[in-house]
Amino acid sequence: MRAIEISKYGGPDVLQLTERPIPEAGKGELLIRVHAAGINRPDVLQRMGFYPVPHGASDLPGLEVAGEIVSGDLAGTNFQVGDKVCALVQGGGYAEYCVAPVLQCLPIPHGLTMIEAASLPETFFTVWSNVFDRARLTAGESLLVQGGTSGIGVTAIQIASALGHRVFATAGTEEKCRATEGLGAERGINYKTEQFSAVVKELTGGRGVDVILDMVAGGYIPQEVDCLADDGRIAIIALLGGAKTDLDLAQVLRRRLTITGSTLRPRSVAFKAAIARQLFEKVWPLLESQRIRPVIYQVFPLAEAAAAHATMEQGAHIGKIVLQLQ
Ligand SMILES: NC(=O)c1ccc[n+]([C@@H]2O[C@H](COP(=O)([O-])OP(=O)(O)OC[C@H]3O[C@@H](n4cnc5c(N)ncnc54)[C@H](OP(=O)(O)O)[C@@H]3O)[C@@H](O)[C@H]2O)c1
Repeated sequence: MRAIEISKYGGPDVLQLTERPIPEAGKGELLIRVHAAGINRPDVLQRMGFYPVPHGASDLPGLEVAGEIVSGDLAGTNFQVGDKVCALVQGGGYAEYCVAPVLQCLPIPHGLTMIEAASLPETFFTVWSNVFDRARLTAGESLLVQGGTSGIGVTAIQIASALGHRVFATAGTEEKCRATEGLGAERGINYKTEQFSAVVKELTGGRGVDVILDMVAGGYIPQEVDCLADDGRIAIIALLGGAKTDLDLAQVLRRRLTITGSTLRPRSVAFKAAIARQLFEKVWPLLESQRIRPVIYQVFPLAEAAAAHATMEQGAHIGKIVLQLQ
């Protein structure tokens, strides 16, 4: 099969088209003929050598695919050969065939294309796990999404807004800020021209937000603590702004704040399966009713994976970048 491999650690050009054997599905796994594969920032980090491949996972990049089931361990499942699915995978998505744990496969929401479906798993699993499970965003509570136009951001804004939460989002340009508002954010905050904590406090009458989904961390943390409501929670999913910060812990103590974080990829199949079930029950209907829509920024053929990574690193994108294979 044709696949994209990381020939050595480095810039986008280290992504090379290659031939690999078609992988074999083991127990509890399906073999998928990949039609489209989503690109995520963790793929860029893996390419640079900053995100080691978990033990037993494919060395090929790619954490999410959409395609049709070719074969596999179908006993006891609702799937059949030929069914169209999207899947969260441990790696190996940038290839014509990919193996996925059956419990991490979901039917393609009615009305979505393969490209749209391929853009879902990584961000939907991550957002659900962090915003709703870990940070427990509950009815009546508000959310601040940092990086509002990232793949993660457009997903978080849409799910939380569709479920009735007040959402605020940050982004680095006016165009991106307006885009977050088009997706359901009450206010897009340009962090380059405004202090996001001051804007959030003003818009919430001084109370602050209940949950912050944070991919920046570093120097953002003190400002985030400042605009969290009492009992508020910060869920850190990346450290784009650095891993160190100077924080007044008295605020955490006095106002009962929680600072937490997680990475999805090393978690067990059982953990991801539980998220898949919740997404299918609570979020898939919102996709099928078009209350939530995938936001596709640009599609590249498999052979142009390097250009796709370069586009992500330029950072002008709003939403998801996807590879098309069929
Ligand atoms: N923990 C997990 O399980 C998990 C899972 C998936 C993804 N992630 C992480 O979540 C983040 C978003 O992923 P994605 O695939 O949605 O990425 P993406 O689309 O490339 O988005 C990155 C966003 O970060 C913003 N940003 C803010 N400060 C930045 C900085 N210093 N450098 C670069 N970008 C900065 C950019 O927006 P502006 O240009 O507007 O600033 C951009 O929208 C990534 O860091 C990724 O590693 C974590």
